[in-house]
Amino acid sequence: MYQVRTYNKISDKGLSLFPAGRYSVAEDVSSPEAILLRSHKLHGETLPESVIAVARAGAGTNNVPVDEYTKSGVVVFNTPGANANAVKELVLAGMLLSSRGILQGRDYVATLGDMTDKGEMSKLLEAEKKRFAGSELAGKKLGIVGLGAIGSMVANAALALGMDVYGFDPALSVEAAWRLPSDVHRMESLQALLSEIDYLTLHVPAIDATKNMINRDTLGFMKPSAAIMNFARDAIVDSEAVVEALDAGKLRNYVCDFPEPCLIGHEKVIAVPHIGASTAEAEENCAVMAVNQLRDYLENGNIKNS
Ligand code: MLT
Repeated sequence: MYQVRTYNKISDKGLSLFPAGRYSVAEDVSSPEAILLRSHKLHGETLPESVIAVARAGAGTNNVPVDEYTKSGVVVFNTPGANANAVKELVLAGMLLSSRGILQGRDYVATLGDMTDKGEMSKLLEAEKKRFAGSELAGKKLGIVGLGAIGSMVANAALALGMDVYGFDPALSVEAAWRLPSDVHRMESLQALLSEIDYLTLHVPAIDATKNMINRDTLGFMKPSAAIMNFARDAIVDSEAVVEALDAGKLRNYVCDFPEPCLIGHEKVIAVPHIGASTAEAEENCAVMAVNQLRDYLENGNIKNS
């Protein structure tokens, strides 16, 4: 009987793929061969000696000490692409919230709660609506940094919306390059991409090479009318530098999945609590991929990170 220790709520569809009778899957199994988790942080915890595999039902692996485990022979899986569609959709929502007066219009309408006369209300709305006029995404330039599973999906969706798409990814794999729509303009440097675009979206992992990739210097290359979408990781962007740029009128909006104290309440910031991949579909896809990876490794010795 294989033992799998779970942390976090894992989708039932994924868990149902562990054959009953051959697997014991629970938070409190005593000698697990495998660990299955979502956002629980394993840093600083003692890994039971019995563990030979860890599967993260998600793309980022910052909550797992991957190098340490790998050196000690523990195989670490993640689920690249399994939640890409959910993130892509939120990037589109972020750009729309940034380009149109949706949130501002909603806040204004909420102030009219005491009005009882529909005719009066209509007159007021007609008079005020010009304050909430926006701009369209079609014809604007989107820059995508990181052209993997999520970046390439965002590229396709943005092209379908009529945007011009620019991409930069110094570590692009051959497989990802094949997946990329041919209409994407590949840029040779981050600076060249940043100076060209109206919207920026980040889809790179948080590693040493990407830490504070968006900082005072790189923000300086961007147009003051540009907006940044960060549904990747907080470490990639220097939030203090972003706030300075927003305050100085050198950046229009910052839309992100990672609220930090300096961002809270800023009128040009739209921050949500790390919900980029929080859809029922994405959670199910990630769990199914992770369980299949673990089973294939435990039962057949195969290491397949897809
Ligand atoms: C990911 O890394 O897959 C997403 O950021 C969502 C998550 O952390 O679960």
